Amino acid sequence: MELPEKIAAMHADLDSIWPTGRNPECLPNDGGHFTLKGYTRPVSIGRIEAFLLFNLVRVLNIRTAFEIGTGFGYSSFWIAAGVIENDKGGWVGSIDSQQEGGLGVHGLDFARRWSNIIGLDSVLHFFTGKSPDDLSHVIREPLGLAFIDGNHYGEQPVLDYTGLQPHLLQDGILVWHDIEKKYGVNAAIAASIKDGWSLVTFPTSCRIGVSYRTLAGWQAATEAFSAARNLQIIH
Ligand SMILES: C[S@@+](CC[C@H](N)C(=O)[O-])C[C@H]1O[C@@H](n2cnc3c(N)ncnc32)[C@H](O)[C@@H]1O
Repeated sequence: MELPEKIAAMHADLDSIWPTGRNPECLPNDGGHFTLKGYTRPVSIGRIEAFLLFNLVRVLNIRTAFEIGTGFGYSSFWIAAGVIENDKGGWVGSIDSQQEGGLGVHGLDFARRWSNIIGLDSVLHFFTGKSPDDLSHVIREPLGLAFIDGNHYGEQPVLDYTGLQPHLLQDGILVWHDIEKKYGVNAAIAASIKDGWSLVTFPTSCRIGVSYRTLAGWQAATEAFSAARNLQIIH
C-alpha cells in the first residue's frame, strides 16, 4: 500500500467535518477536514490542502520540514509521507503547545500511534512546546518547507514567522494556513513580503498560501496545486 493510502486508512479513526467544503466559494473537491473522535477542535487541513503539501514536498524534493501546530498529526503525516519518499534519512519536526480546544495529550497520542502505523517514525518527530520560544531548541536542520498552522489570532502568526524564518533555506518555502481577514496571518505575510518573500494563494476552504523566494518555488506551488485540486498525487 502506498503512503497516501495508508494515511487514508486512518480516516475511519477520525470524525469527518465540512465534507464538501466550508463555504460555497470553495473549490470542487474541497472539504475532507477531520477532528479527533469526540472533539470539535482542532480541525485538520482539508483534502486538497493535504494533497498540496504532499505534492509540494515531492516537486521540490524537500528533505527537511517543520510545522507549527501538530493538532493530532494529520498535516504532519502528509508532509512526512512526501519527505520519506524523497529521502529515508529526511527530517520533519512538528510542535504543539497542546492547548487549543482542550485536546491535550490525546492529540499527541493519536499522532504518535498513527505515525507508527503509517511507517513515518524514522523521519517524523513530535515536540511539545510553544512557538516561537521553543523553535530554536527543537529545529535541528535548515528547512526546505515550513508550515505555519498554530494560533492564527493577534500577533502570534507574526511571532511564528519571525521565529521560523531564520531556519529556512534560501530556496525553501513557507506554507500558510487560514489566510482570512479575521486572523492575524495577513500581518505575518506582510512582514514576509517586506523581507523579500512572494506569495501565491489558493481558494481552499481555509485559504492556503505558499511563499517563495525563487522561481522554482513559484513553479512548484502552481504545479503541486494543479494536481492537488484534481486530487492527484505527484510521485
Ligand atoms: C489548527 S490546529 C493544527 C492542525 C494541524 N496542522 C492539521 O492540519 O492536522 C492548531 C494547533 O496549534 C497549536 N498551537 C496554538 N498555538 C501554538 C503555539 N504558540 N505553539 C505551538 N502550538 C500552538 C494548538 O494547540 C493546535 O493543536
